[in-house]
Amino acid sequence: MATTEPTWSPALWRERPALHQPDWPDQVAVEAVRERLSALPPLVFAGEARQLRESLAQVAAGRAFLLQAGDCAESFHDFSAISIREKLKIILQMAAVLTYGSMLPVVKLGRIAGQFTKPRSSPTELVDGIELPTFLGHMVHGEEPTAQARVFDPERMLLGYHQSAATLNLLRAFTKGGFADLTKVHLWNQEFVASSPEGRRYERIAAEIERALRFMSACGIDLESERSLHEVDVWTCHEGLLLDYEQGLTRRDSLTGDWYDCSAHMLWIGERTRAVDGAHVAYFAGVHNPIGVKLGPTTTPADVTALCEALNPGRVPGRLTLISRMGAGHVQELLPPLLRAVRQGEHPVVWVCDPMHANVIRTAGGTKTRRFEDILAEIQGFFGACLAEHAWPGGVHLEFTGEHVTECLGGSEEVREEDLDRNYATLCDPRLNARQSLDLAFRVAELMRAAEERATPSQP
Ligand code: PEP
Ligand code: CO
Repeated sequence: MATTEPTWSPALWRERPALHQPDWPDQVAVEAVRERLSALPPLVFAGEARQLRESLAQVAAGRAFLLQAGDCAESFHDFSAISIREKLKIILQMAAVLTYGSMLPVVKLGRIAGQFTKPRSSPTELVDGIELPTFLGHMVHGEEPTAQARVFDPERMLLGYHQSAATLNLLRAFTKGGFADLTKVHLWNQEFVASSPEGRRYERIAAEIERALRFMSACGIDLESERSLHEVDVWTCHEGLLLDYEQGLTRRDSLTGDWYDCSAHMLWIGERTRAVDGAHVAYFAGVHNPIGVKLGPTTTPADVTALCEALNPGRVPGRLTLISRMGAGHVQELLPPLLRAVRQGEHPVVWVCDPMHANVIRTAGGTKTRRFEDILAEIQGFFGACLAEHAWPGGVHLEFTGEHVTECLGGSEEVREEDLDRNYATLCDPRLNARQSLDLAFRVAELMRAAEERATPSQP
């Protein structure tokens, strides 16, 4: 990748319109926090971001698949070894199903260790007749519906940094210290999942994986010394929304001299902040991490071409991931022109489907939810559109939780509208629970297998 433009700096974004930033009451305090962040150790290394970029290049070339998944908004309250472990279990379990089903490598990327800020459709909301700033995430204020809790407090960026550091530390320990060992494949099935049809289906795959390992061992293959059986890479990502935080964690890599955003391995630009002349694109054009961009229903082919040119002029495979979130009813019609524009521009992107964010509905009682069938239908439409346009359907971007929540409707153990109140715990958007996530993994594995049989990847 060409080195960062000499005119770029981590503060350059300030010259452009920055949407969805908190209205900080005290700029001096923000500046002080940003300086403290600049002096703290990086959370990830440039070399790791480069490794992820190489793995994503394999996805761009149609030789691997991306599973990008985690919480909608991480919480300062729900922060424990158990909740981190349960989320990791689901990622490992879904990845095992996808890998086994497709026989392709799966790049695992958690929406975790930094997913603390949210863009919202409206800056204020009415609670009991009082107008309050809408909740924008724990990195900037509290979610309690009081004026006091909703005051923007820059010190919370430091709390977010420390929670991210502790989360990442545990993830590294779990993934490198034995928990992610393939011989533990049964352990990733949670108790309340194991008894369900998809849990039992998972047990059968786990047993087959164990038999395959025993077979290799019986053939004399030394499994002990094979690192990839005992350790996995689970990379981190979040929406790079809060530019004061991202700027504070920007570091120059001593090996290459390039700038990296060391708050996560991968960052993505949200649907509401992807304007090509906006602050977010200006900032992320200059850091060398892998970058994602969400593309909603209003995206035009010209927008996508301009984003590709701004964020990846050197056409480096793995640098840019385009995350389509069109809605189940629109993807077949709206995605193909974008796929064609990218192909004509010869941009080696990763195409990913986020089937969550354009499928939000409200029940008659006003509860925000998503239907499992719509989520699945958007993924099916995405696969269909990609294959028709000779692009590789590279992955899925999901919101889930390890808890047994009732936030999304449907799934094989059907959550009905009247069940939603039972355990509706999200801070922001409705998430798939562990069973629904596993159920979806089986369906996606089938689509991947069919895609692999049909696809003739044409991306460079
Ligand atoms: C999100 O990923 O949580 C989100 C807000 O998505 P989008 O930018 O696609 O609306
Ligand atoms: Co969300």
